[in-house]
Amino acid sequence: YLPDEMDLGNAKHLIVVSNRLPVTISKDAKGEYHFKMSSGGLVSALSGLKRSIQFTWIGWTGFFIPHKDRPIVDKRLMEEYSCLAVYLDDDVADKHYNGFSNSILWPLFHYHPGEMNFDESHWLAYRQANLTFAEAVMSQVRKGSMVWVQDYHLMLLPLFLRAMVDGPESLGEATASEVERLQRGLVRGTDVPEKEHCQEIKIGFFLHTPFPSSEIYRILPVRREILLGTIQCDLVGFHTYDYARHFLSSCTRILSLPTMPNGVQLPTGAYCQVGTFPIGIDPESFVKGPETPAVSKRIKELEQRFQGVKLIVGVDRLDYIKGVPQKMSALELFLEQHPEWVGKVVLIQLAVPSRGDVEEYQNLRATVNELVGRINGRFGTVDFMPIHFMHKSLPFTELCALYAVSDVCLVTSTRDGMNLVSYEFIATQQERQGVMIISEFAGAAQSLNGSIVVNPWDSQQVADAIFEAVTMPQEVRAENHSKLFKVTSLAILPFNFSQYSFILLVRRKVFGNVLG
Ligand code: F6P
Repeated sequence: YLPDEMDLGNAKHLIVVSNRLPVTISKDAKGEYHFKMSSGGLVSALSGLKRSIQFTWIGWTGFFIPHKDRPIVDKRLMEEYSCLAVYLDDDVADKHYNGFSNSILWPLFHYHPGEMNFDESHWLAYRQANLTFAEAVMSQVRKGSMVWVQDYHLMLLPLFLRAMVDGPESLGEATASEVERLQRGLVRGTDVPEKEHCQEIKIGFFLHTPFPSSEIYRILPVRREILLGTIQCDLVGFHTYDYARHFLSSCTRILSLPTMPNGVQLPTGAYCQVGTFPIGIDPESFVKGPETPAVSKRIKELEQRFQGVKLIVGVDRLDYIKGVPQKMSALELFLEQHPEWVGKVVLIQLAVPSRGDVEEYQNLRATVNELVGRINGRFGTVDFMPIHFMHKSLPFTELCALYAVSDVCLVTSTRDGMNLVSYEFIATQQERQGVMIISEFAGAAQSLNGSIVVNPWDSQQVADAIFEAVTMPQEVRAENHSKLFKVTSLAILPFNFSQYSFILLVRRKVFGNVLG
């Protein structure tokens, strides 16, 4: 039952914008295009929502598509997936994605300033990509549309969009000249409609990563511009209260703007509301997965293969924020201190390839390979290897069976916006009621009451947590799992409640209807 107020079935026109489309496009040797729904975190989080609300999704195609092929791609994307493609030149795409987004904002937002490489040409490409995205949004908006911008790749988009919709003068003199400066040297698209057609739009922004303490954030050479870009929204959302608080204090300290616990007051009189909307997964497939014939067959095979062994599962993108080396070191310490468990505990670590064009990710791969080799060399025998390491992504059946068959899930991120793997694991564990060990630096740790929370930098603490997990009596596991499952099951509604309430709030603003 949903009160009328929450029925978004008739919501005003909603547009979701993210760097990647939810569809993976590929081109075969014959030059034919293929389209497949993607399965990344953001897509997984929003797909539950897609079942209850219709929206248009705008995103980058992932690789360069020649002009002559674009009409075919556009047609299929719109008709089959209600998506609109943003086309970027290779150089802009590379410097926007690998450069500014993943070599500057990503390390900074995850407290890794040492990995940050600031380069003017990356900043130019970031501005160019954000402008091109804003133009794509302009081609879709109509009076009263809600535009929901996702993530750190698009933090200037709200500013560019506002300037196009309401005119730069509406932003105040200082911001208008900032817009002019930011757009200098950029290539403009040709088919931006007249702004009269698209007045009164509302813009929301959701950050899927942490927002760091203002003391870290202020390292960013373009700290003012990024904040200015984002506060043009009606609503800015974060996973946790801490991230929202850090954002607000950055606005006070860097922009000297008055802030309240729930938003920022702009000099024009506009109010940018700031809130916490912890994202979840679309859990149905993980809850029901283990009962399906294919997954349950695979569970039996794995149980047979690892009889008498406690399985620890790790599923991470191979990213330095995920703390994979810290996880390996803690396992090594555990095996060293508990030789009675050698041969009886196995870590199955899936490391999903990610951002392989960025140097830091290549270095990490080498470090992890070396650690796996060293630990397996030290504790392995002809019959036993303590770490089963895979550098690939797995099909859903295999992943779901792996989660379901494991006794422990180990998340040791040194920073993580939320960490949806922990939710996926919990959702598959109705039968086994495995133990969740999670880093205190993952957003999810704040809500996962029933897990063992660790500091991944403290190898001894993580090693002790592994011992506690593998020796935990079944009744304690069951009690903990039922608490964890309650949290995860908040998302077991036909939609993700948190994202739904985000849109609801934006809609209230659309109708100018301030409800409690
Ligand atoms: O956590 C932020 C995020 O952008 C997610 O939305 C996404 O699933 C993940 O990082 C990986 O992103 P990408 O492969 O697009 O770099």
